[in-house]
Amino acid sequence: MEATDPSRVTIHMVSSLDGFVATRDGSVSWLETSDTYEHGVAGEDPEAFLETIGCFVVGSRTYETALELGWPYGDVPTFVLSHRALPAARESVRFHAGDPEALVNERLKPTYRSIWVVGGSTVAGDFLRRGLVDDIRLSIAPVVLGDGMPFFDRIRGEQPLHLRDVTAYTNGFVDLWYEVRAH
Ligand SMILES: NC(=O)c1ccc[n+]([C@@H]2O[C@H](COP(=O)([O-])OP(=O)(O)OC[C@H]3O[C@@H](n4cnc5c(N)ncnc54)[C@H](OP(=O)(O)O)[C@@H]3O)[C@@H](O)[C@H]2O)c1
Repeated sequence: MEATDPSRVTIHMVSSLDGFVATRDGSVSWLETSDTYEHGVAGEDPEAFLETIGCFVVGSRTYETALELGWPYGDVPTFVLSHRALPAARESVRFHAGDPEALVNERLKPTYRSIWVVGGSTVAGDFLRRGLVDDIRLSIAPVVLGDGMPFFDRIRGEQPLHLRDVTAYTNGFVDLWYEVRAH
């Protein structure tokens, strides 16, 4: 990592148009959609994308869901937040309990340039509320769920943002990339 190129913490989540990241029973089957958007760009190759990521951070419920549905994080180091003694299902998995500031500032930033917090809403909201996040990348799926688990339900305050980029894809998903601004 170059000293001139500081590491960044990015939240990445996929949400329905009405702001839910999972149904009430935790399902994300709605991520599979049949929409097409003729002016959209093709999605990035998943393997090439994984090469750009230094490490992932997930909450324990997201970890358990990922193990159940198919591991999406490749061999990228993945830090799981949990107070429980969960088994490490892969060599790339590490655990952390307690203070997220200690995780980010003492374990992650000295080693990784691109730190991606990929859910769930409990962990993403907690990181944002604690001021640990530089960027938010929200992919909006072409679906309304009506009910479910909100994207950010623990913020309790206003957070100004700067819009960095917007990308629309051929599958109808829209990616919004925001930079978190200081108050
Ligand atoms: N649409 C998307 O982009 C997306 C992305 C990710 C997940 N999801 C969905 O979101 C759901 C899970 O989200 P969630 O908000 O319920 O849970 P989560 O954020 O994945 O996990 C929360 C759990 O992590 C552990 N934890 C959190 N902070 C901690 C800390 N500082 N120290 C130690 N442990 C800590 C606690 O569990 P324990 O201590 O009990 O282990 C806590 O209950 C799933 O349904 C998943 O499919 C959707």
